[in-house]
Amino acid sequence: MAETVFVLDFGAQYSQLIARRVREAGVYCEIVPFDTPWATLAARSPGAIILSGGPESTLVPDAPDVDPALLSSGVPILGICYGMQLIARHLGSELVKLDHAEYGPAELRAASAAGLFAGVDPTTRVWMSHGDSVTRLGDGFEKLASTDRCEVAAMGDARRKIYGVQFHPEVVHSECGRRVLDNFLHGIAGLGNAWRMDSFVETATAEIKAKVGSDRVICALSGGVDSAVAATLVARAIGEQLTCVFVDHGLLRKGEAESVVAAFRDVLHLNVIAIDARKRFLDALAGVEDPERKRVIIGHEFIRLFEEEAAKIPGVKYLVQGTLYPDVIESKTPDSKAGHKIKSHHNVGGLPEHMDFSLIEPLRSLFKDEVRELGRVLGLPEHVVQRQPFPGPGLAVRIIGDITEERLTVVREADAIVCAEIEAATLDPKPWQYFAVLTPVKSVGVMGDGRTYANLVALRSITSEDGMTADWARLPHALLERISTRIVNEVRGVNRVAYDITSKPPATVEWE
Ligand code: XMP
Repeated sequence: MAETVFVLDFGAQYSQLIARRVREAGVYCEIVPFDTPWATLAARSPGAIILSGGPESTLVPDAPDVDPALLSSGVPILGICYGMQLIARHLGSELVKLDHAEYGPAELRAASAAGLFAGVDPTTRVWMSHGDSVTRLGDGFEKLASTDRCEVAAMGDARRKIYGVQFHPEVVHSECGRRVLDNFLHGIAGLGNAWRMDSFVETATAEIKAKVGSDRVICALSGGVDSAVAATLVARAIGEQLTCVFVDHGLLRKGEAESVVAAFRDVLHLNVIAIDARKRFLDALAGVEDPERKRVIIGHEFIRLFEEEAAKIPGVKYLVQGTLYPDVIESKTPDSKAGHKIKSHHNVGGLPEHMDFSLIEPLRSLFKDEVRELGRVLGLPEHVVQRQPFPGPGLAVRIIGDITEERLTVVREADAIVCAEIEAATLDPKPWQYFAVLTPVKSVGVMGDGRTYANLVALRSITSEDGMTADWARLPHALLERISTRIVNEVRGVNRVAYDITSKPPATVEWE
């Protein structure tokens, strides 16, 4: 694809945001490691290159560096923060370490409203985050903008089409950010703006086809958006060579197992093996009350089942994973290793570590909302595309204490009412997640003229951006009342409903 932009990643927090902004500008973009040799990139005829920011200083020995051949390749280059400083070092400019690093907002003054700053106001607010600064420009470079604390806040050599900005155009706090990126991509590099999700489908399917050849591929469907979109995309590329395995562990919500299989088999015509493992999971979980043990048992059981199924299909060489860009970042964040384990999160369809497959991760460069868009382009039903997050261990972590068939029915029926009522309501903001929890508490009630001693169901409904932090949703009282009335009237064995009004932290979203 001639119009691909590569972002060379120097470990910036914002590399993925840069890639996303480029795609939003209608240009296909991929992130690659900073030391990717120019020859590798040249083989793909890039339309432009962006050097990201990064946590290091170019002034220290062995600082991460680019292949210098890139800078004389003639391909338009934009360096952001660390990227600009690298360009400066390679092409004859001087840099100093600032006595005080500059973080946060600054007023940017552009030298002229042309080129990189075409259409940008003479002064505009930008976001800075740097400890080094360019002080003198190398031959051919012009100063394009400054701030009070940063003399060279942008520089460029129009002849060679090499530019640098010290601020971060990719963050929303930089008012002119989109305009500057647009100017670089379209005005300077001359790239079009025609890239859309359907172009992604074309590129990705061609790559998958080339990689897989005539081999067989397997994929675990969980009912979630990511595995659904990944499987559909791979099926678009290789059709019958893909086998999807759907394990019904009996811990899904009401009607979900049937609707997953129907959507994939009947609507999308995927090759799906559905395994009814409800009894096996219930047996393995019998008498287990400890939340961590529940999670571990479900994880192990799932992997074992998946392995058994995979072994029945001859010649499987690849496994599809619905890994998203945030997962990629998360997995290389060193801090996450040092963090306390709160819960052993488990994705049904998570990779069994010792399995002998190569991975296909077609969503690795996408964000969740891009995955949903891709799902729509691929023709996935809206209920799959818009499915709210659901934990891998399913209803097992929404039944506090022992899991039995009877208790599963109670939580499933109550949950169906919660979902139906919340989905039918017009809410702003719409809760990010909403569900019922079956508590181990029984309480006294009166129904008709009789005493009851029955279950307490808790309603959980939260607002959140990413599940990392959350607040309880301020649902209208009338809606709460409807949900409560319906649950106690329609779900056998429940005589009381409580609303969980705890944020995360200190609580977590799920109760277990
Ligand atoms: P917690 O309970 O940790 O949940 O505050 C945060 C978000 O993660 C979901 N969750 C899981 N997702 N496997 C998953 O794929 C899991 O084991 C798991 N546990 C919790 C939870 O529903 C919420 O969206």
